[in-house]
Amino acid sequence: MAPNSRLFLAVFVTFSLFFSPAFSAHDYANALKKSILFFEGQRSGKLPPDQRLRWRRDSALHDGSTAGVDLTGGYYDAGDNVKFGFPMAFTTTMLAWSVIDMKRNLGSEYGNALKAVKWGTDYLLKATAKPNTVYVQVGDAFSDHNCWERPEDMDTLRSVYKIDRDHPGSDVAGETAAALAAASIVFRARDPGYSHLLLDRAVKVFEFADRHRGAYSSSLHSAVCPFYCDNNGYQDELLWAAAWLHKASRRREYREYIIRNEVVLRAGDTINEFGWDNKHAGINVLISKEVLMGKSNELKSFQINADSFICSILPGISHPQVQYSPGGLIFKAGGSNMQHVTSLSFLLLVYSNYLSHANHAVPCGQKSAAPALLKRLAKHQVDYILGDNPMRMSYMVGYGARYPQRIHHRGSSLPSVRAHPARIGCKAGSRYFLSPNPNPNLLVGAVVGGPNSSDAFPDSRPFFQESEPTTYINAPLVGLLAYFSAHHN
Ligand SMILES: *[C@@H]1O[C@H](CO)[C@@H](O)[C@H](O)[C@H]1NC(C)=O
Repeated sequence: MAPNSRLFLAVFVTFSLFFSPAFSAHDYANALKKSILFFEGQRSGKLPPDQRLRWRRDSALHDGSTAGVDLTGGYYDAGDNVKFGFPMAFTTTMLAWSVIDMKRNLGSEYGNALKAVKWGTDYLLKATAKPNTVYVQVGDAFSDHNCWERPEDMDTLRSVYKIDRDHPGSDVAGETAAALAAASIVFRARDPGYSHLLLDRAVKVFEFADRHRGAYSSSLHSAVCPFYCDNNGYQDELLWAAAWLHKASRRREYREYIIRNEVVLRAGDTINEFGWDNKHAGINVLISKEVLMGKSNELKSFQINADSFICSILPGISHPQVQYSPGGLIFKAGGSNMQHVTSLSFLLLVYSNYLSHANHAVPCGQKSAAPALLKRLAKHQVDYILGDNPMRMSYMVGYGARYPQRIHHRGSSLPSVRAHPARIGCKAGSRYFLSPNPNPNLLVGAVVGGPNSSDAFPDSRPFFQESEPTTYINAPLVGLLAYFSAHHN
């Protein structure tokens, strides 16, 4: 018996008390399938013949034309019709990480998961085709948000925004490089030519991001703020990109870059957060794998940071720096809470897998957390999303007996093109937005922002912080559901 086993046990007991003992039998495989299908509903551009979500049609077929480039395709970020490059790249990185770590657990969904990644990377390749330039947004967010329109009808301003040497954006360029590098791993065996193209582009985009440093929120402030303003700075994305490039290429220069820049790029900052803006916890967990696999002791400090990140979110361990709702859901202020739930749970799960392989536990002060404990917390969060919560409802559209009916999503809430072929203009959509009726089109698999800090959920379109789905809520969830679909109990 390990000397710490009694502590593990104590922690388990605390934990079971903290969360209501859930003995639910969720259909994780079904939820997994739906979580990937959701991405088809967010597609922009010309839809392919194998599109399964049939109420959507082609949209935004001239994106980029005002700048003389082809920027069709990609994903709408959430319930609106803007293509925001920063969260789109993060979504793609997280989908790729889900596939890389849970490849064997995806089962029959493997092919669909690859398609979801590729819909992102095909667009990112277009956005980075011109050297030292990244197209980072299509659509004027103010003009878009002023209308309630189907993407198929869109007549709002499709302004094109870019960064270049004189208007840098190391945050969005770094995240784009990370996405391309991560996806190159996904396609390495399946499509070596495409994989090579992705890695080659990732190298170039990272070079540009690093050489011309700056925040895109400064260069393009009025376009990207307050929507996806990089409040956290661009330093984390540079390290994050280097970490993915190192993983994808195994080139020494990236490891040296990480070691050389660890302090100046503040690897240990704001550890208990992970999302489209803040990559610190993700960087530390990702790089820790190298350390735990015994491949690099020079990177030990990243594992120490990852350990403190884990301790900071485990209830009953130290002073948790993360709040939990009375029903046991991770809760962070600021809206779209489920993005924190899925991304932090994803890190718990992958770190627990890295720890298990290395036969390691996390030291948290006087206590110690075993990998199984991390996994249990991640599973509790997923089960909460699927229905084990005080509202007794699933927060994934189309999963379970009760789920959100009035999600804040233009396409889902307006009649489909098939049902209503005539155009519905900007303000003509308002009556659908304000209607108390359920949405006519099921955006299957969409996970919404979720309940407030007292586990209550209004299921009302105007409450966008609770009722809006986003691509970066679902992306890490794909990995979580893949794992739990293959590992019951
Ligand atoms: C959560 O929503 C419920 C129902 O709308 C409300 O009564 C409660 O005050 C809200 N809690 C917080 C913390 O906002």
